[in-house]
Amino acid sequence: MSNRPRIFSGMQPTGSGELHLGNYLGALRNWVELVDQQKYEALFAVVDSHATTVEYDPKQMPHRIFGTALSYLAAGLDPERCSVFIQSDVPEHMELAWYLGTVTAMGDLQRMTQFKEKSDQYKQNVNSGLFTYPVLMAADILVYKATVVPVGDDQVQHLELSREIARRFNARYGQVFPEPKPLLTKTPRIMGIDGKAKMSKSRGNSIDLFDDAKTVEKKLKGAFTDPAKLRLGDAGHPEICNVFTMHTALTDAALVADIDRDCRSGALGCGDCKKRLVQSLNTALDPMRERAAALRAEPARVLDVLRDGAARAREIAQATLVEVRDAMGMRAEAPPR
Ligand code: TRP
Repeated sequence: MSNRPRIFSGMQPTGSGELHLGNYLGALRNWVELVDQQKYEALFAVVDSHATTVEYDPKQMPHRIFGTALSYLAAGLDPERCSVFIQSDVPEHMELAWYLGTVTAMGDLQRMTQFKEKSDQYKQNVNSGLFTYPVLMAADILVYKATVVPVGDDQVQHLELSREIARRFNARYGQVFPEPKPLLTKTPRIMGIDGKAKMSKSRGNSIDLFDDAKTVEKKLKGAFTDPAKLRLGDAGHPEICNVFTMHTALTDAALVADIDRDCRSGALGCGDCKKRLVQSLNTALDPMRERAAALRAEPARVLDVLRDGAARAREIAQATLVEVRDAMGMRAEAPPR
């Protein structure tokens, strides 16, 4: 067992399960860097149990889970250095979620922005799982006593609640859990190519991690930029342009400075700017496309990683649950005579 601080994170298997550029730049790339630093013991789950809070096709779910796991590995998570697993393979998450639910205030859950949004979006299915989603999320993290949680900024509120839940548990039953903190990426939020909303597959505005070069080029051609800049020669405003934001995340800093200057002066048109972005994207995506193709050809490799990852995760999770049940007095003992 290692005594390095632990990190935990996860993503839901949605759509085909395979991830997009927003997932990569907003979180996954950060995970890969953290693993490569070797300062942490890292665990990453495909959080399939969370994905059951909205209606889905059970026949498709295994493919989605596979697609997300494959994306993690193709993006560069090294299974020799971290555990990659499926949440539902470690049932201790569920058990801990029940106990944590008993120290979670209804009012706190009612304030969660994601709950308000989702219960608006899925009016015909506002189930209690959607409501207690953040409790399961707290359990995901606390079952490993993880202190560092690399996520996108939309999850900060859930992390605050996880800390509050840990504090309440500790106050009532004794010190068991450390308080987990979010670790945000430096990359600003990536909008979809429509420029209207956050990148997401369901909105059909995403650049997907395994899109081929042609598809990427085509999608970028139609991508929304600075509306003031219609022709070469017009002065642009890179600070409000999503294509520029992607450049800052993917292109060499020196070249980004040139792009910034030439966009503002009008010397660089959107078409050429996008062509440069295609190059940067291909540089970043090529190794991932190759790894994804290799894994698709040999799916057993993905399944092996998931099995080993779950075994390691369960070892830790089971030890935590022994401690939790003990702290909560969940055992029989004859009263003193
Ligand atoms: N709620 C997260 C999301 O929608 C996914 C998630 C579930 C998660 N459990 C987690 C993220 C634990 C970090 C830690 O993106």
